[in-house]
Amino acid sequence: RDDVESRGLGDVYKRQRRHCGYAGCLCIHRCHLRLRKAKEMAITVKSAREIELMRESCKLLADVFQNMERAVKPGMSTMDINILGDKLIRGHGCIPNFLHYNGYPASICVSVNDEVVHGIPMKHHILQEGDIVSLDAGLIYKGYHSDMARTIAVGEVSEEAKLLMERTRQSFFEGIKYAKDGNHLHDISNAIDAYISQFGYGIVRDLVGHGIGTALHEDPQIPNFAQKRKGPRLQAGMTLAIEPMINIGRPDVVWLDDDWTVVTEDGSLSAHYENTILITDGEPEILTLY
Ligand code: MF3
Ligand code: CO
Repeated sequence: RDDVESRGLGDVYKRQRRHCGYAGCLCIHRCHLRLRKAKEMAITVKSAREIELMRESCKLLADVFQNMERAVKPGMSTMDINILGDKLIRGHGCIPNFLHYNGYPASICVSVNDEVVHGIPMKHHILQEGDIVSLDAGLIYKGYHSDMARTIAVGEVSEEAKLLMERTRQSFFEGIKYAKDGNHLHDISNAIDAYISQFGYGIVRDLVGHGIGTALHEDPQIPNFAQKRKGPRLQAGMTLAIEPMINIGRPDVVWLDDDWTVVTEDGSLSAHYENTILITDGEPEILTLY
């Protein structure tokens, strides 16, 4: 994407810049990734007390997701999902961290079919049998953020959609095999890429995973595609949001005029799978699993 200007995506570029105050933001172009040097990274290592708070934050979010997933049915609007999710988060006494984040207008990102991420819930956007819908949300519990995403089938979906969802999920698990103290961050990126590439899918490059803690987006940025450098060393106590975004077709994405919704440029289906995890001395803990 070095030639983004010449390909006529110049304003896409600028738009992204506008609402990305923080370099770790998921909605940032890869150009920033290259500009940031590894040594500038300040990855927070959480104390035992902070880890407990992260666990609780993530557990509550997983409960929200379980309930949202059960509710997804044909005929429901994407706004209905947002209203439900918002209610569930507040019902736990927590705050939805996406709402008003860089001006995002809802608590839950709801992205349908070729929408990759950051879809804005709409009263008139009705889910149809055969759609796949990506839900992405997070919450704040006692100052600690959690973040997760799932792509869910609406009724019966095509075989190719099922495969895309399953392989996107599996790519996360392939990646976190390397999420261990002493390994390097890009071991995770490389494993996700190696697994997904065999299917000929496009790995979204313009959006990345991130550290998480007292902020939704902390260092480091976590690409889902192969890296030349090793990246920073992983250490027990780091909490990371790992979130492959995979397209059936090309990796390229574009931003819609609402300044938020990211869609595949070729119109192909896209899936997203994200958990907040904890690096330990042994196997990683997946904090948002349900
Ligand atoms: N879900 C994104 C992430 O995982 C953040 C969404 S930004 C928002 O990092 F503004 F849409 F909330
Ligand atoms: Co995230």
